[in-house]
Amino acid sequence: MIQKRSIAIIGTGNVGVAAAYALFNQRIASEIILVDLNKERAEGEAMDLMHGQLLVGNVNVRAGSYEDLKNTQVVVVTAGVGQSSPDESRLELLNRNAAVYEDIISRLDQHAPNAILIIATNPVDILTYVSQQLSKRAPHRIIGTGTLLDTARFRALLGRYYDVDPRSVHAYILGEHGDSEVPIWSQANIGGKPIQHNTILGKPFNRKALDKLFEESKNAAYEIIKRKGFTNSAIGVVIARIVEGILEDEKSVIPVTVCWEGEYGISDVCMSLPSSVGLAGINHRMTPDLNDEEVDGLKNSAAVLQDSLEGIRIVK
Ligand code: 2OP
Repeated sequence: MIQKRSIAIIGTGNVGVAAAYALFNQRIASEIILVDLNKERAEGEAMDLMHGQLLVGNVNVRAGSYEDLKNTQVVVVTAGVGQSSPDESRLELLNRNAAVYEDIISRLDQHAPNAILIIATNPVDILTYVSQQLSKRAPHRIIGTGTLLDTARFRALLGRYYDVDPRSVHAYILGEHGDSEVPIWSQANIGGKPIQHNTILGKPFNRKALDKLFEESKNAAYEIIKRKGFTNSAIGVVIARIVEGILEDEKSVIPVTVCWEGEYGISDVCMSLPSSVGLAGINHRMTPDLNDEEVDGLKNSAAVLQDSLEGIRIVK
């Protein structure tokens, strides 16, 4: 018997809908259940997607409740509020979203205890940590979207700069998904040629231009929010990619939010490391060779996140 690939999305705001659209359009799941406090909204979104079924293929989208999630393999949590203005950082959302998560995680533990959770609400690193504290499931079954989005933005910009396919640019952004994130220049390469200090595809090394590209990817969300009020399309594709890696048991190495256990001397914090992702959730966390500046950058990210965590008290 072919097993149904069932996934659920909690929250049908801009991000939840973009994720549903990406998952539907790419036929990554055979069933997508949309859960929202506003059931009518979830129903409307499900109806709208289902009208494209003729053109997409056999994916069923429906509105549901927590009670319907018994057989879901992956639950994506997008519920909560997003940055409402370009002046608001992801960390400033914390108090508003931590409270929402207490309720969601306890319901998911009750109704979908075997599912892998993908956390997408901001501040994503902190909410991944909070979810791991609140949930009874093993920490490697709770994954934050982390810096896959930043890495995608970074590679897109580097690809454009070097006039090459972004998939052929090997470069990570690690640490916080936010203002303290760290570009791993020491390992960045195209076709095995390090980007640092080399002429690549006819472009001589230009530190200033490359730093500017990193700044542009780091600040991308603020620029998008300034123009359209929120970001959703790219994070939707990012979520679909992580779900695909899990359901296909790909063991692909992607930068996602995981809990650190002493890597580079850092622990008791969740933020991005390149990690292998599959049906078990996180299989392995990788520790690329980093220079001192990059390790310091990651320590700074950890300190920023730990500072914010001090403000919240988690009651199990
Ligand atoms: C983004 O980077 C806001 O975290 C969201 O698009």
